[in-house]
Amino acid sequence: MPPPPRLAPKPVLIFDSGIGGLTVLREARVLMPERNFIYVADDAGFPYGAWDEAPLRARLLHLFATILERHDPEAVIVACNTAFTLAGSDLRAAFPVMRFIGTVPAIKPAAERTRSGLVTVLATPGTLRRAYTRELIATYAGNHQVHLVGSDHLARMAESYIRGEPLGDEAVRTEIAPCFVEQDGRRTDIVVLACTHYPFLANLFRRLAPWPVDWLDPAEAIARQARRIVPPLADVTDPAGQDLAIFTSGQPDFATRRLMQGFGLRVDVRPVEAARL
Ligand code: DGL
Repeated sequence: MPPPPRLAPKPVLIFDSGIGGLTVLREARVLMPERNFIYVADDAGFPYGAWDEAPLRARLLHLFATILERHDPEAVIVACNTAFTLAGSDLRAAFPVMRFIGTVPAIKPAAERTRSGLVTVLATPGTLRRAYTRELIATYAGNHQVHLVGSDHLARMAESYIRGEPLGDEAVRTEIAPCFVEQDGRRTDIVVLACTHYPFLANLFRRLAPWPVDWLDPAEAIARQARRIVPPLADVTDPAGQDLAIFTSGQPDFATRRLMQGFGLRVDVRPVEAARL
């Protein structure tokens, strides 16, 4: 008798406000080759950086209720510092059966690696305001000087750049200039990229930096954590179908759809009802 047909493994859902989580998807695919992925971008709420905390928390809880019911993933990677530092524990409390893998500023590895003791955290203003971020600094980087640089524009600039729009060097230089501190003969040697959008600009950052630093991108560490939480399946080596991209607006523009196709994602154009919040 032939063996019974095997059920396809459930997909892993990756969430961000926009295209930033694609930096994590890239790594997750390498480490979790047997899984399908569903990429959810809350483009109707983008950018998250300027949102007040209470409405953003309410929005995230509401959105996840809809998304988890609709897609029933194996686990969720919240590939957004601005969302996870705010609502990570609320999401875990509201959906106790779901496994959430979070994204928080990589302050611990930066504190372990810095030689000069001058570390910069580059993030959205929202992430820098969070109690979570302050606690990470107090816990892991108490012996170092941590400079917080909030950018209102970089996430949007990364969105345009990755869609192929031109981006002037001067605009980028202005955003990253405050990251570089010189003090008592020491210089900043690590900049934590604490927004998942920023690694898309890392080559520009390197070229425009006044001196070389380590630009810390946590994408691979997040993917490794996801792999630990969702162990490999003994008898499955390939994904069953095509990966999917969902935009809460239901209306990604042409450049965005082309970008998603470039990442091997099929775009689902149904809007997510909860995005009307
Ligand atoms: N990608 C998001 C993060 O990691 C933030 C972008 C935004 O919505 O402002 O924080």
